[in-house]
Amino acid sequence: MNFVKTTLTELEELGLKRTLRIHSGELTNYSTNDYLCMSTNPIAVKKAVEAVKLFGTGSGGSRLMSGNLSLHEELERRLAQLTGMETALIYGSGFLANTGVLTALAGRNDTIFSDRLNHASIVDGAITSRSRVQRYRHCDVQHLSDLLKKHTETGRKIIITESVFSMDGDIAPVREIFELSRSEGCILIVDEAHATGVFGHGGGICREEGVVPDVVTGTLSKALGSYGGFASCSRKTREFLVNKSRSFVYSTGLPPASAGAALGALQVINSRKESGSELVDRAMFFRESLKQAGFNTGNSNSQIVPVIVGDSSAAVALSHSLENRGILAVAIRPPTVPEGSARLRFSVTLCHQRKTLQNTASEMKKLKWK
Ligand SMILES: Cc1ncc(COP(=O)(O)O)c(C=O)c1O
Repeated sequence: MNFVKTTLTELEELGLKRTLRIHSGELTNYSTNDYLCMSTNPIAVKKAVEAVKLFGTGSGGSRLMSGNLSLHEELERRLAQLTGMETALIYGSGFLANTGVLTALAGRNDTIFSDRLNHASIVDGAITSRSRVQRYRHCDVQHLSDLLKKHTETGRKIIITESVFSMDGDIAPVREIFELSRSEGCILIVDEAHATGVFGHGGGICREEGVVPDVVTGTLSKALGSYGGFASCSRKTREFLVNKSRSFVYSTGLPPASAGAALGALQVINSRKESGSELVDRAMFFRESLKQAGFNTGNSNSQIVPVIVGDSSAAVALSHSLENRGILAVAIRPPTVPEGSARLRFSVTLCHQRKTLQNTASEMKKLKWK
């Protein structure tokens, strides 16, 4: 196993080695996806505890065996309502939702058209499906259209994009992509992992734009503060996924605590429909402060605010300096982001008051000129 040692040494030398750390909670945390601070919300906690008391700690098996709980189906009804789709199907995680949906809908004779910056779960789902894969330039509808016209092989054509991009915080032109998918006869899948709970009164970007793709995938682990994933779709598509989606069929149903917590989160989101827009407003305030200080925040237009540094070691150094000032913003390096675009990824959450955001921007400004 010599390659293990050499690979780790190489990663270290390139400034790309990752290590696991336990964060004490004393730092101001900008590296969480718990955007609405839902993981500690009393209603979500109460619902999780109640679910465990009623259903136990595990679901005991695949949903198709004996692991299908009334709690799962209640959560699916609520997720369908939130996303404005007919039904929903829960998966063990957002990663499993993407791989499960892609491998079920796309096969050997089909072509997947995927945004260049799509998440690893989409990349892996596309590879596992054995389809042909065409990657279009990030958010470039013209390039997507050119590729669709060029690749006229038989088989299904599937377009997949994130709505809010996880590392850039920019937003895909979902309406244009939707229209193109209809005129070219393609299946459209939109991954709303970072938009659920935040945009469209919680329903996501598609909901906000009044666009109904064939499948919306999402996660319970970010703004909903729980764990698990889902796909919202038509009844027929759900029936198909229940039969053909391997990460659904061959994996245990979601634990009751996670389903209960997600149900609690949806209750909170429905009772405070403006939380998401308040969050996006705070992020805009933060982004503008950083921009004024001369930082490159790319095309971010959401609660995710990257500060693009370029060099991996420089990004790590900046992150360490911030940590010494009580601020946690982990450096994101290749291969998570393209070569030469290492960055600090700030997630603004509802736990960050404007004053805190202002202080963080001031600390960044001091560091920039050192
Ligand atoms: C765009 C996107 N899709 C899917 C996922 C996977 O979600 P989960 O963490 O629930 O597996 C993530 C999270 O990392 C993501 O950023």
